[in-house]
Amino acid sequence: MNEKIAFLLNQQINKEFYSAYLYLDMANYYDELDLDGFANYFTVQAQEERDHAMLFLKYMQINGLKVTFEEIGRPDKTYSGAVDPLLAALEHEKYVTSLINDIYHEAHAAKDYRTMKFLDWFVDEQMEEEDSANSLINRFKLFGSDPKGLYLLDQECAARVYAAPSLVL
Ligand code: FEO
Repeated sequence: MNEKIAFLLNQQINKEFYSAYLYLDMANYYDELDLDGFANYFTVQAQEERDHAMLFLKYMQINGLKVTFEEIGRPDKTYSGAVDPLLAALEHEKYVTSLINDIYHEAHAAKDYRTMKFLDWFVDEQMEEEDSANSLINRFKLFGSDPKGLYLLDQECAARVYAAPSLVL
């Protein structure tokens, strides 16, 4: 496999683990606010990010590529209100989409159809992740300033449960 693609795949493992760390940090923030539903939402999100990291790891292993772990960065965002992590999460997902697109671009240029096929799942996943993040922001803007509305939104987020990824390698 093309060295640059292998490098980007390896880097993506780190990016996905960082995403998990970032979302756990958001869960901690909501826990401090006693918004346990939002804390649950981001805890589940962190579990999904760990799954993403493991999928990249497994894909590299299956293809006989050397995996090198780098340090995982410290989440350094600060929040001054309950909507802030939601906005930061959407921005972060857009960034992750750009990373997936970058790998896809390299795979396409190298005619690496296997990696393109693998990444197709992530292209779809990123669309869903951005849509979910956007939807939560919009509903927060509609209902979040009303205490009862915020309570119901928190209850909705409390109902989110972890589901294993549909992609199995
Ligand atoms: Fe793994 Fe939320 O992107």
